[in-house]
Amino acid sequence: MTIKVGEVISVSGIKVTLRIDEDSSRETMFFNGEKYKGVSIREFLSIQRGFRNIVCIVEGEYLDESRVDTVDGKVSYIRKVDARPIGYFENNKFFEGIKFLPMIKDPAALLPEGDIVAIFSRGVQSDFVIGKMLKEDIPISLPWHKLFNSHMGIFGNTGSGKSNTLTKIFTVLFEKKSAVMVGKSKFIFLDFNGEYTGNQFVDAAQKTIMNLVSLNDPVDQFPLSDSEFWDADTFSILFQATPNTQKPFLSRLVTGRRRFLDRPNSLHNYVKSIFRKIFSAASPKAETLELALRIAALIGSQPLAALLSTVNYNRQTASFFIAPRSYFGADGATYDEHLLPLVNAIDLGQLDSFDELILRAHLQLCRDLIAGYVQFEYIQPLLKRIEASLTNLRKVLTVENAPAEERLLTVISMRRCHSDVKKILPLLIAKHFYNAHKRDAENPPTRTIHLVIDEAHNILSQQSAREHESWRDYRLDLFEEIIKEGRKFGVFLTVSSQRPADISPTVISQLHNFFIHRLVNDRDLFLINNTISTLDNVSKGMIPTLGRGACVVTGTAFDIPMVLQINMLERERQPDSEDVDLQRIWANDQ
Ligand SMILES: Nc1ncnc2c1ncn2[C@@H]1O[C@H](COP(=O)(O)OP(=O)(O)O)[C@@H](O)[C@H]1O
Ligand SMILES: [Mg+2]
Repeated sequence: MTIKVGEVISVSGIKVTLRIDEDSSRETMFFNGEKYKGVSIREFLSIQRGFRNIVCIVEGEYLDESRVDTVDGKVSYIRKVDARPIGYFENNKFFEGIKFLPMIKDPAALLPEGDIVAIFSRGVQSDFVIGKMLKEDIPISLPWHKLFNSHMGIFGNTGSGKSNTLTKIFTVLFEKKSAVMVGKSKFIFLDFNGEYTGNQFVDAAQKTIMNLVSLNDPVDQFPLSDSEFWDADTFSILFQATPNTQKPFLSRLVTGRRRFLDRPNSLHNYVKSIFRKIFSAASPKAETLELALRIAALIGSQPLAALLSTVNYNRQTASFFIAPRSYFGADGATYDEHLLPLVNAIDLGQLDSFDELILRAHLQLCRDLIAGYVQFEYIQPLLKRIEASLTNLRKVLTVENAPAEERLLTVISMRRCHSDVKKILPLLIAKHFYNAHKRDAENPPTRTIHLVIDEAHNILSQQSAREHESWRDYRLDLFEEIIKEGRKFGVFLTVSSQRPADISPTVISQLHNFFIHRLVNDRDLFLINNTISTLDNVSKGMIPTLGRGACVVTGTAFDIPMVLQINMLERERQPDSEDVDLQRIWANDQ
């Protein structure tokens, strides 16, 4: 049984116009125990065409004033609606796409609620519900198997409900699937605001929470393996090396270390050989004295530092001397007499990887200067940067080879990190998981990694004028690679952002599924308009006016865009939002 509400009066292209009988303009009606929605915008109509029912979505409604019927002297207008076919029912099964078009005089009927569920939950057996259809108020089950093997984007202005949506999606996933995912999948949440360090997602036993702090005393450290840390790419990222001169310098440093790593006392021998080079070079370089002094300080050798401070450089003869006139010659005699005993006595016992890096960078620069490979001015800023960055980085990183305990979920909070650390860390973390996973991936992948980044504009934004041009590239390069290639290896990205327009277009255009909350900025809307091909005009038009927690859901996992009101999570599972509760702070304490 159906309720006939009108008939087709024109079909032009894929635009169908129907004349609607006047009495069917109520909001909701019941018929034979089924609930129906009246004819209005974004509602669905079913047009009977032979043994198929073509489903159309209503996109416009108007009165036709030119055709006034006068019955019994009363004036009545003809109500018309424009509709667009989205698919059809055949044998009670819904098929998506415009394969059949209605013809004039075909009768149109309201679609019972059950059929609407059939359209939007099509092919979804499981019960994966994160919300209800905004208008129809019907819970809809999402196709999780198509959603979690894709890259997802969650967009919306601040306070529009992104964090709640993100948390809800993964909370429902873990509720349904966490038991079968252990050992097969890993979820990494990059949390810039410390919103997910409480009871979110799963119970404490199933997750690792890392609280990385660089602003105050350190709490947790992210573990990098020795080979991961001693890597020219890692260093280039960490210290924003320029590709032309500084990165090759770092490569030489890393290969040099590797070559002698298995020899006993290799670092001490390196120090000895460089000091001898500095003070017995055929044409000594003034800057190497400065570097030698710094090295003595780094090592903590007072006697060496004291002696070096008495060494001078004679610009005329281009040579080092100890006042008044003990010149260092290429034969090394002066070196052997004054410096060698002190250099031999150096104790490098307590250097950690970070100090070792600073030391090696200074030694490498001395070596390269003497060999005439580099200009001091090009490399020295890098050394300064290494020392400055490591002050903060050593609070949040460790270099160790113990394999970390693997839990289903890792939440990494960077809330109390310096902003430069917030930019670098996610990159290292993503690289850490991505490279290891890629190395071990089978074909087809049997394990997956899901990297979730809330407030992703922190790291994926394209325009950050403060940054060095070449540094920005490493960051985007990695994420663009993950988003382009990751799917092959089972690496999936979920990004959430309040400013999609600021995020690299390469990243946005490779996302597959979208949850779009309220966005009002023109640039964001323009971008959404131009990059998301699965979005239709009606849904698009709703984006600026969506209420809290309401979002347009579209993408490859969904046949047809839909507007969902996401369910609010129970209190203890909600993200810890940054909202300041002034009513509480300014409460009248009585
Ligand atoms: N689905 C929802 N239904 C009702 N209220 C919501 C919903 N999602 C979020 N909110 C409310 O909106 C506020 C902001 O939500 P949040 O998820 O932190 O937004 P965003 O991450 O976009 O800034 C929250 O404090 C919450 O109370
Ligand atoms: Mg948020």
